Amino acid sequence: MDFWKNKIAVVTGGSKGLGREIARALAAAGARVILVARNEADLQEAADAISASTGQAVDFHSADVTDPSAAAHVIEAVVNEYGGIDVLVNVVGASLRTKLVETSPETFRRQMAINFESAVNCTQAALKGLIARRGRVINVASLAAKTPWPLVGPYVTSKAALAAYTNQLRFEIPELGGVLLVCPGPIRRADSGERYRESAAALGEGAQAPGAGVKLSGLDPDELARRVLQASAAGKRELVLPRKAQWLFFVDAFSPRLGDWLRRRFNRHR
Ligand SMILES: NC(=O)c1ccc[n+]([C@@H]2O[C@H](COP(=O)([O-])OP(=O)(O)OC[C@H]3O[C@@H](n4cnc5c(N)ncnc54)[C@H](OP(=O)(O)O)[C@@H]3O)[C@@H](O)[C@H]2O)c1
Repeated sequence: MDFWKNKIAVVTGGSKGLGREIARALAAAGARVILVARNEADLQEAADAISASTGQAVDFHSADVTDPSAAAHVIEAVVNEYGGIDVLVNVVGASLRTKLVETSPETFRRQMAINFESAVNCTQAALKGLIARRGRVINVASLAAKTPWPLVGPYVTSKAALAAYTNQLRFEIPELGGVLLVCPGPIRRADSGERYRESAAALGEGAQAPGAGVKLSGLDPDELARRVLQASAAGKRELVLPRKAQWLFFVDAFSPRLGDWLRRRFNRHR
């Protein structure tokens, strides 16, 4: 895909998981990739591995992007070094398992920080420069941005805020080269079903399962990364995968009652 050749691409959350796959796909397509995450050793390992598999130099910056000044500092450092940013990919995010009735406001605040403010901090710092270059933004949300789901209330809430912010960016700033909202279902990975062991321990069957028990098979991360880049290059506004999930959102628009019934049917542990 020549489209990404020599583009300056910042990928937050680029040391692991989906962010790493997107970073690898961008480097393979010829982009100059800069990874952002907190753990420096993981960043170094990811940059080396992506470089070795694509032949492209990969740079990185260590920062906690939930801190607005740290995010602004990273964006400024990249602009100073590379002259600007062509694509900002906000992938940082995390889920947890919790019953709404037992969830503290502090847990909501922490989920808002990682899933919403992280993207706002980086985007707002980069925005004027992105507009000047007709740069792009890709924000990774989740199917959870569009539907309630048991045991992931703060995740649903914070990803919905990210989706609203992404829609606002796209609508209010047509001068950007493109704004893509990505809403994937569960993504296949080696530690699926293990990651929420701690927060899910007391929550019963299904709480640890990928997607908190949704009846969907995991998306292939490599294929998903490719689809994300294709959709952004084609100027798409939204990528929802698997596509069949969109039916639920159509139903919700007309009958939330029917939507709730469908959600129960699609939960393995209802
Ligand atoms: N996994 C899924 O099934 C799935 C499904 C739908 C949507 N998503 C979304 O896809 C995105 C990636 O998920 P994933 O599961 O692939 O992630 P992951 O493997 O847990 O990786 C998270 C990445 O973000 C970095 N990170 C975390 N907190 C950070 C912070 N405060 N500042 C800077 N970097 C930070 C991590 O590195 P450090 O810890 O070193 O900072 C790491 O590089 C998330 O937004 C997630 O909500 C995931």
